[in-house]
Amino acid sequence: MTKLTIRKPDDWHLHLRDGEMLKSVLPHTSATFARAIIMPNLVPPVVTTADAVAYRERILAALPKEHSFTPLMTLYLTEGTDPDDVEAGFRDGTVTAAKLYPAGATTNSQSGVRSIDKVMPVLERMAEIGMTMCVHGEVTSADVDIFDREAVFLETVLAPLRERLPELRVVLEHVTTSDGVDFVMGAEKNLGATITPHHLMINRNAILAGGIRPHYYCLPVAKRESHRLALRKAATSGDARFFLGTDSAPHVDPSKECGCGCAGIFCAPNTLECLATVFEEDGALDRLEAFVSLNGPAYYRLPVNEERVTLVRQDAPVDFPAKVMAGSEAVTVFDPMRPIHWNVERTACPQGN
Ligand code: NCD
Ligand code: ZN
Repeated sequence: MTKLTIRKPDDWHLHLRDGEMLKSVLPHTSATFARAIIMPNLVPPVVTTADAVAYRERILAALPKEHSFTPLMTLYLTEGTDPDDVEAGFRDGTVTAAKLYPAGATTNSQSGVRSIDKVMPVLERMAEIGMTMCVHGEVTSADVDIFDREAVFLETVLAPLRERLPELRVVLEHVTTSDGVDFVMGAEKNLGATITPHHLMINRNAILAGGIRPHYYCLPVAKRESHRLALRKAATSGDARFFLGTDSAPHVDPSKECGCGCAGIFCAPNTLECLATVFEEDGALDRLEAFVSLNGPAYYRLPVNEERVTLVRQDAPVDFPAKVMAGSEAVTVFDPMRPIHWNVERTACPQGN
C-alpha cells in the first residue's frame, strides 16, 4: 500500500502548555488533528471550569487561522475540587474529562491527589453524570521501583477503585506495560487506554544504552522490549479499548539536557507518520484508522470526524525538523531512530474551513 486515506485523527492526551510554547507547538497538532484532550498540568493547574474556559480561549487565540481544531478541556483533580463545578463544566460542554494525577507522579503534579478517599465525592459525581476520569497510572512511593510503578498502581489503586466505583468511566493514560494492556483487556466496561507513538517505537535502551539520552525520557518511563511488543499488539489489534494519546509533552532543551532533566517527549510534529510506519511494520495499516480516528470518539461518546487525511508512502525518508523554536529556545522533536517513509498529505476540508 502506498496511499492511505483515513478520517482525520484526534489526540486523546496532549500537553500544549501556555504562552510562547503554546504558540509554537499548537500548529504541529492542529495541522493534522481535529481534536485533542488538553492536559491541565499548567503552573498553576487548570482546576476549575473558569480556569478551563480561560485556557481554552488562550488556545483558540493561538490557533492558526487556516486550521480547524477543537480543544477538549480537562480539569486537574485536587483534593479540594468542587463536584458541583465539575458537573456544571461537563454539562455545559466546557470540559470533557477530569485528570487524576497521583501527587508527585510527573511534571507539575505537586497539587495532585494524595488520597483517593478525598476525591471520592467528585469521582462519584463523575460516575453519575458519565464523565471520564483520565488517570496517570503510577504510584509515587520512593520504595517502589520506577519500572514497577504502573503495575503496582493497577493492583493497589485502580483495581480497588474500579471495584468501589464500577460505573466511573476511566481512561488509563499512556499505558506502558503488558500489565496495563492485560488490565484493560480484562475489563468488561468503562475502561479504555491511550498509547503514545514513542512507547510503540522505543524501549528503555533508547534512554540508557550507549549513553544517556534525555530526549527519550518521559513518564511513565519506557519499559523493556517485551512490554513494547505488548503495546504494539494492543494498538494494532483494532481493539476499541485502545486509542492514540500522543502525550506530546514539550520542554525546552535546557530543561531536558541538564543534571535533573524534565520528563516529556515532544512527538506532535511526526506522530501520524511514525504511527503509519509502526502499523505498516506490523501489517496492520488497515487498522490505523481505528486506533487514531475511531476508537477514541467511540469511548468518549463523540461523533467521528468527517474530514479526511491522506498518508502517502514515499521512497525517500521524510525530513522532519529536529527542533522547533519556542521563542528563543529550542524544543527537540521525537526522533524515532529509523527512517520514516510515510508523509501526511492534507485533503481539502469539505466544510471549507
Ligand atoms: C508530561 C509533562 O511534561 O507534562 N510528561 C511526561 O513525561 N509525559 C506529564 C505526564 O503526562 O506525565
Ligand atoms: Zn501527559
